[in-house]
Amino acid sequence: MELPVFHLDYLNNRTLIALIAVLHVVINHGMAVGGIPLVVWLEAHGARRGDAEWDALALRILTAFFVVTTTVGALTGVGIWLSASLVNPYAIGSLIRVFFWTWFTEWLVFVTEVVLILAYYKTWARWTGPRKSSHVKLGRALALASWVTMALIVSILGFMMDPGSWSSDRTLFSGMFNPMYLPQLAFRTPLAMVMAGAFAMMVLIVSTGRGEPLRVEATRKIARWTLAWSLPCALGGLWYARSVPPAMRSNLPVALLTQALERWSSHATQATIVVCATIVLAMLWAALRPARVRSWALVLPAILSIALLGMFERVREFVRKPYAIAGYLYSNGYRVEDYPLLQRDGLLANATYTPVRVITAENELVAGREVFNLACTRCHTVDGINGIRPILQGMYGRTDANGEAEPWQRDVISAYVGSMHNVRPYMPPFPGSDRERDALAAWLVSLQTRRDVIDGAQVTGVVALPRPDRGTSSPSSVH
Ligand code: HEC
Repeated sequence: MELPVFHLDYLNNRTLIALIAVLHVVINHGMAVGGIPLVVWLEAHGARRGDAEWDALALRILTAFFVVTTTVGALTGVGIWLSASLVNPYAIGSLIRVFFWTWFTEWLVFVTEVVLILAYYKTWARWTGPRKSSHVKLGRALALASWVTMALIVSILGFMMDPGSWSSDRTLFSGMFNPMYLPQLAFRTPLAMVMAGAFAMMVLIVSTGRGEPLRVEATRKIARWTLAWSLPCALGGLWYARSVPPAMRSNLPVALLTQALERWSSHATQATIVVCATIVLAMLWAALRPARVRSWALVLPAILSIALLGMFERVREFVRKPYAIAGYLYSNGYRVEDYPLLQRDGLLANATYTPVRVITAENELVAGREVFNLACTRCHTVDGINGIRPILQGMYGRTDANGEAEPWQRDVISAYVGSMHNVRPYMPPFPGSDRERDALAAWLVSLQTRRDVIDGAQVTGVVALPRPDRGTSSPSSVH
């Protein structure tokens, strides 16, 4: 590894990315990809009827979407880059090499999108009367640009799950049109439209009075929009679920919940169905009885769809484990093809930033901590989310004769780490040497007898030692 390992204990690196990314996707899907076409559709409807009040409502919805997408939306977009390149620089590095032109195009389309949304927003009040139809056209161009940015990025998300024939031909085309691409796009597009309907309802509730004719009419219209997109959304979701590679499907129970709650996962699937049905029922109520529907029923779809999208992104991120890029790069940041070398010579010998290179009886614990840092912290913390200390304390109900939780012992841990990828296929095989595995086990055991991580030292080892010249066989030199 050429870069120091960034580690966030308690919260966990993955949670950091997840919080930023889910917020970004909620805003992007609901307020840009789905939001803009919905606003344009409402605007065109108002224009056809020459209804100024309706036009003002469409502008209010646009204003809300515009403010949120250009502030929190844009910042979290950059935040994904920042957090993902901190946590797994090698995954981002590899993706940039494969998808350079995709991202370059994405940047051009994104700049176009920003220019168009500014123009669309600023000209709303001025392009009236005979120019209204041009304004609607401008909105359509913006809607297209928003969709294209998503369509480009989704190809990369699909690639990480299943690179398909890219694994053999290594072309950008097969990378983009990977087996997961179209199903995922077919799901995300209508999902964005459904979310837009749910969010527009929120603006409607806040900005109109109960029983007001405008509210009644707009409730019906927006509910119809949402219902119309619900069926394609469900079909896209099914297609997508079916195209997840079978090996990944076995990760689903843990992905949906956690290992401790795995047996509840069948209920999680049922809960997902109930949540979807609730959104549809609330929208049906709004479409059929727009004057009577309660405000809480109109707020519900927004909250539920955010929860659903968050869960969906979590599952998508989790099922591709143990890989960051299926078949090519493990989630721990090590490439599959570098494993033989690393397992022979060790992680420490190949790391740029480490306080230890050669393990001795004296530095064993520091070395073990460092191995944990390099091989496990992309997914584990010491004490927080997925914390290794509580896991090893016998978290899963192993108790001794007195009913006390029984910690795992050194030899058990060492043996376990050697075969953890067989027992728990979502974990990558241990990337280091046997001696390092042993040192890791020693450190993990020592965690059970003291509270601090290791004599006040942090888990993040950023002390650079000179590296012996390893010539061109260095695995990190190819990153
Ligand atoms: C790709 C992510 C990932 C990596 C890398 C990883 N783990 Fe895990 N590990 C997990 C997940 C996820 C769980 C299950 C947590 C849960 O839901 O309870 C887990 C569970 C465990 C368990 C408990 C398993 C059981 O059978 O009950 C141990 C022990 C463990 N990991 C040790 C390690 C060690 C040591 C390393 C580093 C050499 C490591 N893991 C690397 C993701 C990972």
